[in-house]
Amino acid sequence: MRTLGVGLTVALSCILASALLAPASLAQSTRELYELKCSRCHEAYEPAKYSAAEWPGLVRSMRGQAALTERQTIALGRFLALESAAADTTGDGSSVSQGPRVGGYLYTEYFRTQEETRNFDIHYLAINVSGWANESIYYYGEFELEHGGVGGNNTFVEQAYIDYWLRQELALKIGAMLTPFNRFDEFHDPLSNYTVTRPQVAREISVSAWKEVGVDLHGYVGLGGRSAIGYDLYVINGLGSGTDLRHSRQYRDNNEDKAFGGRVFWLFGDSLELGGSAYRGAWDDGGEYSVGMFGAHLLLDTAFAGFYGEYLSATSENPGPTDDGEMSGYFIQVSRLLASRFRPTVRYGRLDYLDPGDELGRDADKGNKDVSELILAFGWYPTPDVVFKVEYVFTMEGPRLEERDNDQLGLQAAVRF
Ligand code: HEC
Repeated sequence: MRTLGVGLTVALSCILASALLAPASLAQSTRELYELKCSRCHEAYEPAKYSAAEWPGLVRSMRGQAALTERQTIALGRFLALESAAADTTGDGSSVSQGPRVGGYLYTEYFRTQEETRNFDIHYLAINVSGWANESIYYYGEFELEHGGVGGNNTFVEQAYIDYWLRQELALKIGAMLTPFNRFDEFHDPLSNYTVTRPQVAREISVSAWKEVGVDLHGYVGLGGRSAIGYDLYVINGLGSGTDLRHSRQYRDNNEDKAFGGRVFWLFGDSLELGGSAYRGAWDDGGEYSVGMFGAHLLLDTAFAGFYGEYLSATSENPGPTDDGEMSGYFIQVSRLLASRFRPTVRYGRLDYLDPGDELGRDADKGNKDVSELILAFGWYPTPDVVFKVEYVFTMEGPRLEERDNDQLGLQAAVRF
C-alpha cells in the first residue's frame, strides 16, 4: 500500500506538472487513450485499416480485453471512426453517420450446491442496437430477455439513451442507463466479468445492472503524457422502496425527489485506474429518508496479473428510534490471461449488510447478510468473444450469522455477437 501511495503521489505530481506545462488538444487526449489502452497486446492499428462503420463494433469487442469503461468504449469508437473517415479518400468518407449496428450477448448457466441442483438457465439474452446519428450523437438501446423471458419482470429495456458528445471533455447522456456508480456494472456482461457469479458487494450494494432514467454529464480530460481523468455527474430517479437495495431498482420514481451522484477516475498509463463514486437520494415513498453511498475502485495491470478491487458503503436513514442501515463490503480479484485463451481468476469478497428499516417496507431478515466468499474460476476463450467458464464458490458466514454450508459450483457458456 505504501509503495502504491508513493507511486500515486509521484504520478499525481507528474500529472499536475504536465497539465500545467502542456494542455493536450482534444483529439490528442483520445489518441492517447487509444495508444494507452489498445497497444499492450498488439500494435494500435492505424484507424484507416478498418472502415468508420467497423470501428465502434471492433472497440466494443475489445472492451473486456482493454478494461474500458462504457464511455471509453464510445469515445474510442467515435475517435477511430472519425479518423478512419478522414483518411478515406475513396468518396463520401467525411460522413460518419452509421446505420444501426446490432450486437448483444447470451449466456447459459448451471449451478449446483450441497442443498440443491439448479437447472440449466438461459440467464440472459441481450440484444443491443447502436449507432451514430451524426458525428456527435450516439444512440444505444439494449433489450434483455432474462431467464428465457418467462415470468413477470424478465423482459425489459436495460438501456436506451442518446449520448451527445459536444466535445471530448463534455458529453450529455439522456435516457435509461446503467448508473455510473463504481465500476463493476460496466463489467457485468459475461465476457467482461471473468467469473460466473458477480461479487456479493456489487450485487447487494451497487445493485449490479442498476438501471435508471436520467441525465449524465460526462467526459474525459486528457492530461498529456500518459494519463487522463474521466468523470460523471448525474441526476436520476434514484432507488425506490424495495425490501433491500437490490430490490429497489426502478425506472419510474416512487417519490418527488431526484437522486444525485458523481464519479471520477484517473487513468495512469495503461496500467492503473483509480476512482471514487458518491450517490445520495431519498429511498422511501414519502421522500423523507435518504440513502447515501460511497465507492472506490482500483484496476491495476502488471506483467504478472491484473488486479481489480472495489470498496462500497451505504447508509440508510430510518425513522424514529430505529438504527440506520449500515452496509459495506469489498472484493479483490486477481486474474491472468495465458496464451490469449485461458484465464484463471481468484476473487475474495466480503459483505456486511444490515438494515433494520422494516417500517419503510424493508425486510430486516432478508437485509441481514454477513458473508465472505472465495471464488476460484477458470475461463477458456476460444476467441475473444466466446467463453466457457467453471467456478467454485466457497461461502463463509461472518461473525453476526451462524455458519451455513452453501458452497456452489457454477458453469457458464457465453458468446458476444
Ligand atoms: C489483452 C490484450 C488485448 C488488448 C488490451 C486489446 N486487444 Fe485487440 N486483440 C487482441 C487479440 C488476442 C486479438 C486477436 C483475436 C482474434 O482476432 O481472434 C485482437 C484483435 C484485434 C483486432 C482485429 C480484429 C479482427 O477481427 O481483425 C482489432 C481491430 C483490435 N484487436 C482492436 C483493439 C482495440 C481498439 C483495443 C483497445 C480498445 C484492443 N484491441 C485492445 C488482444 C487485445
